[in-house]
Amino acid sequence: MNKPIIEVKDHGPYQITGKFQLIDSNGNKYETESDVSLCRCGQSDNKPFCDGTHEEIDFSSAPRAKKLLIEV
Ligand code: FES
Repeated sequence: MNKPIIEVKDHGPYQITGKFQLIDSNGNKYETESDVSLCRCGQSDNKPFCDGTHEEIDFSSAPRAKKLLIEV
């Protein structure tokens, strides 16, 4: 299994690479094996996935961690 990596994209979604399982609040499971982008702006019509709407609404968010959890 490829270790999943989650990248917070500036002004865009969370981009996840690697194999992981996504479970929604109803317990529905989504198996993934390729890149997936999860909506961070809250405006996607295909939540929890990003559909590109963040570009249309000029979503602006570029958070930076104040403290790293682990040293890389
Ligand atoms: S982050 Fe892309 S539609 Fe919300």
